[in-house]
Amino acid sequence: MVEDLKRKVLIVLTVLLLLSSAQAGSTDRLSGHQCTDFQTANFLRGSKLKVQFLLFTHSSPSCGELILADDGIKNCSFNSSLETKIIIHGFRALGTKPSWIEGLVHAILHSSQVNVIAVDWIYGSTAAYPSAVENVTLLALSISQLISKLLALGVSGTSIHIIGVSLGAHVAGLVGHFHGGQLGRITGLDPAGPKYTRASPEERLDPGDALFVEAIHTDADNFGIRIPVGHIDYFVNGGRDQPGCPRFISAGYKYLICDHMRAVHLYVSALKHSCLMVAFPCASHQDFLNGRCLDCVDPFLYSCPRIGLQEQAGVNMRKLPKEVKVYLMTSPSAPFCVHHSLVEFHLQKTRNTVTSIEITFFSNSTKDTAKITIPKHQEMGKRLLAHSVPLCQINRVTLKYLPKSQFWRKDESFIVGKFCAAPLPLASNRTTSCLPWNLTLPSKTDISYELPTACA
Ligand SMILES: *[C@@H]1O[C@H](CO)[C@@H](O)[C@H](O)[C@H]1NC(C)=O
Ligand SMILES: *[C@@H]1O[C@H](CO)[C@@H](O)[C@H](O)[C@H]1NC(C)=O
Ligand SMILES: *[C@@H]1O[C@H](CO)[C@@H](O)[C@H](O)[C@H]1NC(C)=O
Ligand SMILES: *[C@@H]1O[C@H](CO)[C@@H](O)[C@H](O)[C@H]1NC(C)=O
Ligand SMILES: *[C@@H]1O[C@H](CO)[C@@H](O)[C@H](O)[C@H]1NC(C)=O
Ligand SMILES: *[C@@H]1O[C@H](CO)[C@@H](O)[C@H](O)[C@H]1NC(C)=O
Repeated sequence: MVEDLKRKVLIVLTVLLLLSSAQAGSTDRLSGHQCTDFQTANFLRGSKLKVQFLLFTHSSPSCGELILADDGIKNCSFNSSLETKIIIHGFRALGTKPSWIEGLVHAILHSSQVNVIAVDWIYGSTAAYPSAVENVTLLALSISQLISKLLALGVSGTSIHIIGVSLGAHVAGLVGHFHGGQLGRITGLDPAGPKYTRASPEERLDPGDALFVEAIHTDADNFGIRIPVGHIDYFVNGGRDQPGCPRFISAGYKYLICDHMRAVHLYVSALKHSCLMVAFPCASHQDFLNGRCLDCVDPFLYSCPRIGLQEQAGVNMRKLPKEVKVYLMTSPSAPFCVHHSLVEFHLQKTRNTVTSIEITFFSNSTKDTAKITIPKHQEMGKRLLAHSVPLCQINRVTLKYLPKSQFWRKDESFIVGKFCAAPLPLASNRTTSCLPWNLTLPSKTDISYELPTACA
């Protein structure tokens, strides 16, 4: 239902925006060579691929240098002793340049000295999604040819990293497949779902497509794919609905693509900011939220993967496992990264009804909340709490017992028990730290405590 609705709105918006969009193919002269921008296509002219490769370097991160066919790669600023990042966009409903391209190029060049090649296939990617999908093989061949030229220059396959957005992630997979899975890395930013969820691994992104394949999932219930497609698959906030994205169709275009585009914004943020986006292997998002996955011992041998450019996502193991689902929470806005802490409450005596306790962490400037639910007849309940400052900067915690009031029976007016908290990842040799006494929580009342954890 929602998908149908989204599609309809997309078509209406496409038509409206096409009527108002003007041609925007500007070129400037800067630093010796001509700057080339992305092309602009529209519905009627979107029938040729017209692929352009635009090179961006550290010395001119805002000026795309067109790599011409044939000997072009020899006759441009490409530096074969540096690593190369290739960016591939996805379906462009409106036939326009992706708004995030500049931000991503800048973020990459800000964090590393590399060659960045942005693939402009605006013409083949517009009009209708199914026809963009039909152009994928031809596009992948064209990118493969470029890579073959790079390899002929002496560039090593392992130094090539393809970053594919949405449909571009599957293009990256195909390119990697054409190169026998020997390219260094592929990052899929919310790999497209429609037409790919049931495709064979040869047709879509899969762990065999490069030495290291990772995917960041943010809209797995709509435009993104819901199955794991890499060695490591990040399911951000469960991989479906993102905090800070509008939940109502009245928000228009932003409602349609906010979740899907969040993968790109997260990635850009991870490159620009030093705060970590660490994720934890788990069977499901619910298990993760319920505190069942607290470390990275299995299968990552104590190293937790993190979003960004670290080699193998910071996972120190020789042979990578495949399709490992990892989970993390984020804040609603940039820089998105949060710290995860386990919070636990142990009842002094078990109850014959469910117990809910709201936990809030306060720092000087932040306030973050989670709700612990203790099932009936059980002694303990736990939950993850995401907070934007480290646990050591949390100076106060409040606990609020929320009685289950039913009109035929009143719940107890207070509960007694013990509160514990611990930052993730939980090392096997470290126990959680608890407040050293039993607390009495009257119903619906905030009870505050200082949380005595010092910064290391
Ligand atoms: C590329 O080739 C043209 C002519 O073949 C030459 O004028 C130009 O200087 C070359 N550019 C670079 C960057 O080497
Ligand atoms: C290519 O990059 C290397 C490593 O940073 C640098 O030493 C070299 O000067 C660069 N070559 C050119 C032609 O810029
Ligand atoms: C891209 O796909 C569309 C739809 O199938 C087709 O009309 C168009 O010719 C294709 N472009 C190329 C360059 O093959
Ligand atoms: C929080 O505020 C207190 C009192 O103003 C100050 O001493 C402390 O350094 C602050 N902590 C942080 C992490 O800013
Ligand atoms: C606890 O475990 C971690 C990870 O295994 C290890 O690095 C650390 O040295 C251990 N600490 C102690 C006190 O054993
Ligand atoms: C808290 O309650 C538990 C369970 O009744 C009891 O074993 C423990 O001694 C109490 N702890 C403190 C510090 O009072």
